[in-house]
Amino acid sequence: MSALVLDAPSPTLPRQWAQQAQLLERQHDRLESLLTGLIERHAVPDEGRSPQQLDADRQDCGRLLRQLGFHLRLEERWLSRLHSFCGGHRSSHRQALTLAADGWAVGQTLRGARLPWLMDLQEWFHQHRHGVDAIAYRRAEARARGQS
Ligand SMILES: [Fe+2]
Repeated sequence: MSALVLDAPSPTLPRQWAQQAQLLERQHDRLESLLTGLIERHAVPDEGRSPQQLDADRQDCGRLLRQLGFHLRLEERWLSRLHSFCGGHRSSHRQALTLAADGWAVGQTLRGARLPWLMDLQEWFHQHRHGVDAIAYRRAEARARGQS
């Protein structure tokens, strides 16, 4: 899958929920993969990474934050259109963004602080995807079917 799917809004974003849901699920897969990779890389002590790898670790964490923010905004927009984005879901997204930003404020310069932060984000993401998101996506699917 192209990295462009997460990197920037596209003028060709799908208009139908079925395709939107597929795109959101691909973003979920990509974010999970990115998180897993970053956790594996940050489990390696600094001495085991080259200066270029250390720089890439930091840059990819920044990329993770941008992609997570873009994904959450897109999901909020599309679920809201189908009246399937509730206040609890919004609060959960805010919680994740706060967790992400607060952790990055420290981890941006302190590599040793990133591993627990990444693991917390991974835990939130996994629970959210298979809990709140799964329920909202089913609701959106039912509403989209009712509109067609
Ligand atoms: Fe969500």
